[in-house]
Amino acid sequence: MIKTKLDKYLLLIAILFTSNANAQETLCYKENLKSISEIETVKLNGGACQNKNSIKDMQNNQWVIDDIKITPKDGKYSFLYVFKKNVIVKNTTVDVDLDQKILMAIKTDRVQTKKIKAKKELETKLNNGEHLYILKCQRCHGEKANKVASNVSAKLSEMTYEEMETSIVGYRFNDYNKGRSFLMKPYSEISDKELKNVFDYIQTMKK
Ligand code: HEC
Repeated sequence: MIKTKLDKYLLLIAILFTSNANAQETLCYKENLKSISEIETVKLNGGACQNKNSIKDMQNNQWVIDDIKITPKDGKYSFLYVFKKNVIVKNTTVDVDLDQKILMAIKTDRVQTKKIKAKKELETKLNNGEHLYILKCQRCHGEKANKVASNVSAKLSEMTYEEMETSIVGYRFNDYNKGRSFLMKPYSEISDKELKNVFDYIQTMKK
């Protein structure tokens, strides 16, 4: 996927130049694009781009791309383009630096996107756990999960996940009882996933 994007993108990239006396230079930019490919069509801000010209428009007006700076942030990209005019094209070697820059930008962005995704997933899990705990467990096991329910239960905040799982399954099948299991049994019908979310939430309350 990277490869295709890159190939396509490299088509936009010219080349090596030498300046002459009439050479002109202008800087254009575009911030917070959601994907790299969008840059090919949007109007750029700044310089001779003036919010009116896309890369293509600029090229039609005899501007050539001299340099590109891409800054990824929070899964979005900001671009800075250096355009030149009236320069003499020296040869047609693709600038290796630009190539590298784009690769780096894509890589950084992927790592960042992954991080954001993992964070969101964790938040969702903890929200589910919190919701469930407050709704179904809190009144007997306490606001901080450190209450001894009915004077018999362990403090949930001190239990490992395996211990919780064993006892919950036990309540479900009537083979775990510290004397008040009839109180707990109705709440033992929760899925593994829900129990894990509740457990993870309980761990956050201990901090
Ligand atoms: C109506 C009160 C009540 C509610 C609501 C309740 N529990 Fe309990 N829970 C108890 C009691 C009482 C015990 C101890 C039962 C026994 O074995 O005698 C217990 C025991 C447990 C144990 C085992 C503790 C030990 O000592 O091994 C776990 C784990 C547990 N509850 C988790 C939960 C979770 C998770 C929820 C919410 C989904 C929940 N409970 C909701 C009353 C409740």
